[in-house]
Amino acid sequence: SPIGIFDSGLGGLTVVKAIRERMACEDVIYYGDTAHVPYGSKSKETIVGFTQDAVKFFLDHDVKCIVIACNTATALALPEITAPVPMLGVIEAGARAALAVSKNHKIGVIGTSATIASEAYPNVLRKLNPECAIYAHPCPLFVPLVEEGWLDREATKMVVKEYLTPLKMAGIDTLVLGCTHYPLLANVIGEFLGPNVKLVDSASACAAELESILKVMKLLKNY
Ligand code: DGL
Repeated sequence: SPIGIFDSGLGGLTVVKAIRERMACEDVIYYGDTAHVPYGSKSKETIVGFTQDAVKFFLDHDVKCIVIACNTATALALPEITAPVPMLGVIEAGARAALAVSKNHKIGVIGTSATIASEAYPNVLRKLNPECAIYAHPCPLFVPLVEEGWLDREATKMVVKEYLTPLKMAGIDTLVLGCTHYPLLANVIGEFLGPNVKLVDSASACAAELESILKVMKLLKNY
């Protein structure tokens, strides 16, 4: 059976890439809900409904597990949904990856308005390490900039500066890119924050977690 991978749009293809790099022979069904993107400005009920539709689609296609590659859907819908196959989100993987690289344990988190308002990242980070200081900030203009293909424009640099100045001033050494679109802005973000701030996204950490789940459950294709 294939692995079902879900995102509100195309950003989750970074997770597909990471999964294919680790588990090249696995089959994948990708559901990018471009009809309803963006999720980040919508209500919890709406996001849960869209995610339920994706889960139903996957189950109709006989998947062996489901990856919710969308941070917003992981934050708001994953806790509300059950399925008869393993379901994995990206937030815990991203939080673990951040804690693994941070030295001063001052961690910035950026995401959609819905993800940041849910406090899902701070909750998981504090559960994993109660000592860490978390600086979370919504960046609602990033998704439309990426959708527009404005990855390196002056306007994009100005928005990055506006959103990320408080995090830079706070002295973070790690920034979680808590939205599937944001890795596409990594160059501009990295340029602004400088080489001492590590950028973390959950794609490869999520792929590693998925592989160990499939291994334990003896669900890997080449097991
Ligand atoms: N894919 C969403 C996420 O990772 C961001 C885009 C949206 O707002 O739909 O949070």
